[in-house]
Amino acid sequence: MAANIEPLPGTSDIWEPETLEWIELEQAARDVFHRYGYGEIRTPIFERTEVFEKNLGEESDVVQKEMYTFQDRGGRSLTLRPEGTAGVIRAIANSGLDQGDERRVFYFGPMFRGERPAAGRRRQFHQIGVESVGTNNPWMDVEVISMLCRFLDKIGLKDCHVNINTKGLPEDRQRVTTALKEYFAPKINDMCEDCRRRLETNVWRILDCKCEPCKTFAQDAPKIIDLLSDTSRDYFNKVCEGLKQVGVDYEFAPRLVRGLDYYVHTVFEVTHTGLGAQDAVAGGGRYQIAFPGMKNPIEGIGFAAGMERLLLARESLGMGVKTIRDADIMILSLGEPAVLPGLQLAETLWQSFGDLRIKADFTARSMKAQMRGANKANARLVLIRGENELADGTIGCKLMETSEQVTIKMDELHDFIASKLSI
Ligand code: HAM
Repeated sequence: MAANIEPLPGTSDIWEPETLEWIELEQAARDVFHRYGYGEIRTPIFERTEVFEKNLGEESDVVQKEMYTFQDRGGRSLTLRPEGTAGVIRAIANSGLDQGDERRVFYFGPMFRGERPAAGRRRQFHQIGVESVGTNNPWMDVEVISMLCRFLDKIGLKDCHVNINTKGLPEDRQRVTTALKEYFAPKINDMCEDCRRRLETNVWRILDCKCEPCKTFAQDAPKIIDLLSDTSRDYFNKVCEGLKQVGVDYEFAPRLVRGLDYYVHTVFEVTHTGLGAQDAVAGGGRYQIAFPGMKNPIEGIGFAAGMERLLLARESLGMGVKTIRDADIMILSLGEPAVLPGLQLAETLWQSFGDLRIKADFTARSMKAQMRGANKANARLVLIRGENELADGTIGCKLMETSEQVTIKMDELHDFIASKLSI
């Protein structure tokens, strides 16, 4: 049987030049988030299962069907993180957050959900996320959404669409739940099996169902905002007003609830038309997260953007790194005695020219074969030394674009490289 060496479904090997684009996105995120006072945090890729279960919601698709959960050797139930927020808040809680303390963090990294793979839907995907904890007022919601838009602008996704809604406070929940139950109950026999269960366990989830006819029924469901307290409505109105004042275009999406249960007040999702069915490039909202034994939940607001989807959206606009150069300079050594001096030369050039990609060919193959390698690497300059050049302290230089070829003294090499490769 042939070895199965493909990556697992829904996972990918990512190669250059694509990895360069990933770095570009991460760099853009760092630049923007730093300026808003956020610092990078790195949390473990796996956590105790309970970190996710309650906070994401036992009725959420993520917890119900998608978590990669396993027992370790000590019999503990562990889960590969399906999202970043719960782990980050666990870390913040563990670091000791006193009343009135504020934390602003951002993170990058792989997340894991056992979803059916499709374009833009992966089992291992990567998020760029931020969490702002400890400032519980609507202006922080405005700042976070506006920062997300700045980041999307910076990476060239200017034509994104921001949808926002409110879920109100926990004390509004019962009123909304009752109204939604009354609305969906007469229709429930025509709805999917999951929604039939959700009617009793968590009726809000029906608003997030992706199948027909549930989706169509959900379009006429009562609007959450109409069922909220004045306090919750005022909060949301301030967020909307703030967004207008800072120049963020948005659309009110009265039935947006998002797939995770920890949200309170503001929820939002950003879509891009360059994507297909999985068109959300980012999503987020205000949340309350608690862990067993904690007196009060931690409240914060944040978002996460899917890196694969950001890249697909950029690709739909014709952006991205198309071609790369494996080497700016290729050092060819003709004959075995020239190989080690070739490596020594590479060492001095690596130290002198920080921005250039320099490779040495150690094979001592024929000149023709080594030149083929230099062409394949798309090298700009090829340096050639054999026994003769080594003996008289010279080196052959070929500029690939013009095919100009000269032999120069070794002590002229640095200036030659600097002038010809315009450094
Ligand atoms: P989420 O909406 O579940 O929110 O995920 C955020 C983004 O991750 C999505 O908008 C999408 O771009 C990307 N994403 C999610 N699942 C997949 C997948 N299977 N394949 C590819 N991309 C995917 C959260 O995760 C929250 N933690 C966001 C948040 C932060 N809320 C507050 N703070």
